Amino acid sequence: MKAVTWQGKRTVSVEEVPDPQIVEHTDAVVRVTSTAICGSDLHLYEVLSPYMTPGDVVGHEPMGIVEEVGAGVTHVVPGDRVVVPFNIACGHCWMCRRGLQSQCETTQVTESGCGAALLGYSKLYGQVPGGQAEYLRVPHADHGLIKIGHQLPDERYLFLSDILPTAWQAVQHAGVGEGQSVAVVGLGPVGQFAARIARHLGARVYGIEPLRERRDMAARHGVEVMAPDDEALATIREATEGRGPDAVVDAVGMEAHGNPVAAGAQHVVGILPDVLGRKLMSTVGSDRLSALHTSIDLVRRGGTVSLSGVYGGAASPMPLLRMFDKQLTLRMGQCNVRSWTDDLLPLVEDPADPLGVQDLVTHRLPLEQAPAAYEMFQKKTDGCIKVVLDPTATDRAN
Ligand SMILES: NC(=O)c1ccc[n+]([C@@H]2O[C@H](COP(=O)([O-])OP(=O)(O)OC[C@H]3O[C@@H](n4cnc5c(N)ncnc54)[C@H](O)[C@@H]3O)[C@@H](O)[C@H]2O)c1
Ligand SMILES: [Zn+2]
Ligand SMILES: [Zn+2]
Repeated sequence: MKAVTWQGKRTVSVEEVPDPQIVEHTDAVVRVTSTAICGSDLHLYEVLSPYMTPGDVVGHEPMGIVEEVGAGVTHVVPGDRVVVPFNIACGHCWMCRRGLQSQCETTQVTESGCGAALLGYSKLYGQVPGGQAEYLRVPHADHGLIKIGHQLPDERYLFLSDILPTAWQAVQHAGVGEGQSVAVVGLGPVGQFAARIARHLGARVYGIEPLRERRDMAARHGVEVMAPDDEALATIREATEGRGPDAVVDAVGMEAHGNPVAAGAQHVVGILPDVLGRKLMSTVGSDRLSALHTSIDLVRRGGTVSLSGVYGGAASPMPLLRMFDKQLTLRMGQCNVRSWTDDLLPLVEDPADPLGVQDLVTHRLPLEQAPAAYEMFQKKTDGCIKVVLDPTATDRAN
């Protein structure tokens, strides 16, 4: 089959690789019909290189049709249409029973000290072949696979794999509801959905983002948008009686605008071997924390900062005095995808499309065009906001 493979820093290629097989009796194999590129894939593309091996199959936002199931799988059968969450979780361990699938104790990658294994996400997360491919092996298929209907288009459901529950969790962590105010910093795909979800739940939402086309998209969904500057902060403060919003969602992470290399280097520095980590740290400043510092500064006293953007770096300086004095709550972490499916499924199937899931994708391309798509998404050219790769278009081309 064809698959998108990591080959080196800033290099992916589409290669012929062996078809995935059922290995464990709890596995399924899915024929992929749509598979998105995520902001998190840009970390692999850029700075998680030390943890990648040339040939690794990437991708963690897929959906498709069940092709084959292991003897122990009872929840799905071949022919079912499914979405595949990026967490690989068993569904029955201590963590999974508490809704913490991203910490699943059955799949935790203890060698690297990380949480649950993830699809297509480096040695740190188990080196499991990912979903930017024609076929995908899904471990723990009974718990993982989200069974859906056959009527609506892929884009309605695809984002249940990652960014929609990620945004939902960020808003839940922020504790935002009717009549409250929230600022969303960063209007990439995760920020777009976080802002729309907060609106849907009845909040007044301010969106801060440097790129015009992303601000325009959010404005279409009732978000009050602005560029990241002092004026934006003053405007939001003024609108909130000088206090600042009840919560701030940081949907930027370490790929902060202008210098993705530095951003990622700081992300990995906390998990690299000491010598290498120190060397990296000496070449990296703390400017990549600008979105986080903005969030801490902006939120009202007693409010919540909710991080969905990925952060790291053992030596990252934090304004603890200010955080303590303002009596802030800080929530963060990888999404527990399966915990939010029941809340989100009715919303993506609603004919009124209340979260605007059909207004996010700017590019749908054949799988074969992955190398150009990665470059476009990283450089944010051609108005690119979200790319979906289509392996079935690859089929037709052959
Ligand atoms: N927690 C999770 O489970 C989870 C899941 C998916 C993605 N993520 C992370 O969420 C983050 C966002 O993902 P995405 O797909 O939306 O990526 P993205 O890179 O497209 O979005 C980031 C956005 O932030 C904007 N930005 C950069 N600097 C800014 C600043 N100083 N102020 C305001 N905006 C700024 C960028 O222009 C961009 O639009 C990434 O770090 C990604 O790894 C986390
Ligand atoms: Zn993702
Ligand atoms: Zn588990």
